[in-house]
Amino acid sequence: MSSWVPYLQLGLLAVTFCLVHAGYKSFEGYKVYRLGIKEDQKDILGTFSGRRGFDVWAKKRIPEPQWDVMVSPALQDELVPFLDKNNISHDVIFPDVGQLMKAEKESHQTVTARSGSDLFKNYLDFDSIVKYLNSLAKKYKDLVTVDKIGQTTEGRDLKIIKISGGGGGKNPIILVDAGIHAREWVAPAMALYIINQLVENSTNKELSEKVDWHIIPVLNPDGYQYSRSHDRMWRKTRSKVPNSKCRGVDPNRNFDIKWGAIGVSKHPCSEIYLGPTAFSEPETVALRDYALHNKDRVKFYLTIHSYAGAFIYPWGYTKESASDAAEMKKLAEAASAANVAAGGSRLEAGNCHEILDDIASGGSDDWMKATLNLTYAYTLEMPGTDFTMPKEKIAKLVVPIFEAIRVFGQHVAKQYG
Ligand code: ARG
Ligand code: ZN
Repeated sequence: MSSWVPYLQLGLLAVTFCLVHAGYKSFEGYKVYRLGIKEDQKDILGTFSGRRGFDVWAKKRIPEPQWDVMVSPALQDELVPFLDKNNISHDVIFPDVGQLMKAEKESHQTVTARSGSDLFKNYLDFDSIVKYLNSLAKKYKDLVTVDKIGQTTEGRDLKIIKISGGGGGKNPIILVDAGIHAREWVAPAMALYIINQLVENSTNKELSEKVDWHIIPVLNPDGYQYSRSHDRMWRKTRSKVPNSKCRGVDPNRNFDIKWGAIGVSKHPCSEIYLGPTAFSEPETVALRDYALHNKDRVKFYLTIHSYAGAFIYPWGYTKESASDAAEMKKLAEAASAANVAAGGSRLEAGNCHEILDDIASGGSDDWMKATLNLTYAYTLEMPGTDFTMPKEKIAKLVVPIFEAIRVFGQHVAKQYG
């Protein structure tokens, strides 16, 4: 009858096709190289950082200086000859990142927790995490409060759970956040397990009697959801950057502590873009203001990342350790030993440069320590081989690390309680 009907059908078909296939970035053919980097070679590689398709996943100094970099198929042909020419050793550690993602595949679906023990069997989406927190507040009225500390760029509420078994609002606070980097999925999973154990396991009751735990399980939920729906390797926030086609700021380069000094990129497309100004992101502002509001009570700060397998303490913006590094090291070693005793793998303890062979300014750990005058401010880097991890492995990781967290809790109770 009318001749445009077939075109309409074709159009609909095309739209459907795009909706299905434009969804999740496949990373097929992306490789991860482990580069052996000597001190004088770091600058040479600088020309690649900030380029599309070149993504430094992790740096490590122990046992040997090495960088793990994910490289797009398009860039591989350019990079490999360049490395050879400059005598930089390169081993392919993951020949196809697409395959790593397939190993996780079901994890991308919406997952609702039915009980506490589901929490660390899956990677929950943000809404399910919020539901879980609210359910705890309802069920454990005397122990739990859930609040918001701000709102993200995309309008999500930034949730905090406060666990307090006494003290009438006067106990010292252990402030914990996770998921400041979107793709480090095991970090929010760790935070949820801590929450689960503090609230739902009555044998841990004493841990919140002299100490209040204030935990933000996902500090960058916009990025977290984006890494679930579009790009598994998304790290940053999702804010619009003025005059750029790229989005997002590295929130762990956005705190006003030696902001912009080192280990950052001014290029908005870079994974370590520092932002147009310090505290340009609503997420970092929310954490800042919450910490300032509770300045007198916060005695301990822990921010959870992955996957270097270490407790990192300040400073992160210089090779120098803070003057009280010995205390931070001693406590981190005790925590690490508790993790090992419970069957976990060893977590190194050291400053940023010692562990990562890298320094970077604008981090939340440095800002907290300096601004709140804390002795203890740590970045926990969960162990792993990359940012993906099949969900079956979560429990084996988070259960022993809770024993390290217990050591922190007991220490704060003793020293400040
Ligand atoms: N992997 C973390 C990051 O790159 C380490 C942060 C260590 N702290 C620091 N202030 N640099 O953000
Ligand atoms: Zn991180």
